Amino acid sequence: MKLRNILFSAAVFGLPAFHLSSVSCQLSTVRAQENIITVNAKKLGAPIQPTMYGIFFEDINYAADGGLYAELVKNRSFEFPNPFTGWDISGQVLLRNDGPFDRNPHYVRLAPSGHRDKHSMIENHGFFGIGVKSGEEYRFSVWARVPDGGNAKIWIDLVDNATMEEDQKLGNVGLDISGKEWKKYTATIKSKRTFAKAHLRIWGDGKVTTDLEHISLFPAKTYKGHENGLRMDVAQTLEDLHPGVFRFPGGCIVEGTELATRYQWKNSVGPVENRPLNENRWHYTFTQRYFPDYFQSYGLGFFEYFQLAEEIGAEPLPVVNVGMACQFQNNDDAHAPATKEGLQQFIDDCIDLIDFANGDPTTNQWAKLRADMGHPAPFNLKFLAIGNEQWEKPFFDRLAIIAPEVRKVHPEIKLIGTSGPNAEDDHFRNGWKAMRELKADLVDEHFYRDIQWYKDWMNRYSDREFYTKDGPRVFAGEWACHDRGKKYNHAGASIYEAAFMTNIERNADLVHMATYAPLFAHMEGWQWRPDLIWYDNLGTARTASYYVQQLYMLNRGTNVLPTTISLNGGTPVANPVEKGKDGVFASAVMDKDKNEIIVKVINTQEKASTTSINITGLKLKGFPTTAEVVTLDCSNYDAENVPGKPEVISPKSSTTAINAEKGNLTLSPTIPAKTFQLFKVKL
Ligand code: AHR
Repeated sequence: MKLRNILFSAAVFGLPAFHLSSVSCQLSTVRAQENIITVNAKKLGAPIQPTMYGIFFEDINYAADGGLYAELVKNRSFEFPNPFTGWDISGQVLLRNDGPFDRNPHYVRLAPSGHRDKHSMIENHGFFGIGVKSGEEYRFSVWARVPDGGNAKIWIDLVDNATMEEDQKLGNVGLDISGKEWKKYTATIKSKRTFAKAHLRIWGDGKVTTDLEHISLFPAKTYKGHENGLRMDVAQTLEDLHPGVFRFPGGCIVEGTELATRYQWKNSVGPVENRPLNENRWHYTFTQRYFPDYFQSYGLGFFEYFQLAEEIGAEPLPVVNVGMACQFQNNDDAHAPATKEGLQQFIDDCIDLIDFANGDPTTNQWAKLRADMGHPAPFNLKFLAIGNEQWEKPFFDRLAIIAPEVRKVHPEIKLIGTSGPNAEDDHFRNGWKAMRELKADLVDEHFYRDIQWYKDWMNRYSDREFYTKDGPRVFAGEWACHDRGKKYNHAGASIYEAAFMTNIERNADLVHMATYAPLFAHMEGWQWRPDLIWYDNLGTARTASYYVQQLYMLNRGTNVLPTTISLNGGTPVANPVEKGKDGVFASAVMDKDKNEIIVKVINTQEKASTTSINITGLKLKGFPTTAEVVTLDCSNYDAENVPGKPEVISPKSSTTAINAEKGNLTLSPTIPAKTFQLFKVKL
């Protein structure tokens, strides 16, 4: 080892440089060191917000209907523009529009066939088929009546149309319908086999006219057992992440292709049968991946989002429209007038939403609706984002009208503005300037970028000339490292996400929230990739990016610990990288509640890195002798987890020895190429 390196080592071990004999003695026990990470545990740094790492949900890639929302029937209320989208019909099937639910007036009539042996039948294809599992039960429900009075019988079959067996049925049940009044009927069907592509077939006896509306099928087991519930395995992936914040319901769908098709939260609450259908822009936005059957049923609505946030322990963060349709898709005249009168509806939407979440059900109509839906206690909403990816004057003018009105009524809510769709251009800089002037509490930044961008911006949040001490905090609301090839996700890109997050963590005084995006994708129904979690009709897969997020979420800590890195014997610096280059990246936190120190180290280089991690400044009676190590190996660039093969990449646990001396702890790992390693020291 060169003398220069020994002197640096002496410095970071907290020893005077002239104690060369003791330094040499210590160093002789470890390998030649390339990199030295020094964590100063003497003084706690900035608190890390509980909201720091979270999730962003948008109904893209069949994330809601056909995904997280456990409903298995597509177009259950016959409200799609083509009322029989998703359905096959045969026999005497009539569409009518004077049903019991005013906002979903259509229903079907199974009319007499005119012959003893003929039946009228409707058959639903589900979302890319209906996934059923052997021995599992499914809850069928329907609103029905016999318009002429009397009794009728319908049969409900789960079928495999492609089978060579004598009987297509995987399970079935009969249901007696009686009387002229609309009533809800339920029945349970058990599947005798696992099959991803079942259909739901409903047929009548062909003799008595029978009307059917809101035809629904859910797995009997949903996440936390809610009747209008979520797919258990998909929701479990969220619970297992332990997100601190949950942003919903979009994204671009909040804006709408025009104002009329924006996400309107008020349409997404109340009885599920009467939530009106909305189109979904992801059905037509990418014409090379066109999904004409992609709509929003709003079955997964704001009540369900708040409930999910509560159940997974995340702060809810709704996004509402700012009186503007999507700027990418429209000229400025597509927006609501930038006057208080023109925007009143949008102001009301904000205030009423806060009341829906937090209000007193005895005095507020929206809070009463929440209570009627089963949640009398408040949801403790603290944040509200107004606008998604908006930019320049049309946005600034509208936010300048809406935000003060909301603040007047609800000063306790933190308001989140946006810096637009880019993270480095003039719109972005102007956005930040305007958000400062409007005193937004946080600014939502978006950056779907390639590996080189991430290498170039590894020190993004250390730039304190741009991100000043006072003013809004950062919400990195949509981001992911995209890269070459047509894959669901790239392990080789995920390593840059892990490295970038060290900069987020080191700057926890500035960055209060960060959410990877998009969250979900159906293997057969995606419009956008990569995505964090993939599923098909039977299973899920957590990507390498998921595990990166999870490792940060599970090891968030309570306070930053100042950290320096000396690369290859170079000067110890707080921001270690040469712009645009691969390297070794690190951050460290203290968890005061668990009394542990966690050091995250990411090696994005093609070669392994011999590294010394020195934790200095501890005052301890006894010293730990081992640290837990969690390793996420991303060296196989194209490796990915998909349903059916969900564990190609996953974190592995091991331990490593700690060398303890005079309040300093030293770990001496070799960090393999393209690997994220996390070291947890229990004090
Ligand atoms: O996450 C996909 C889209 O990316 C979001 O809807 C939008 O906010 C961004 O452009």
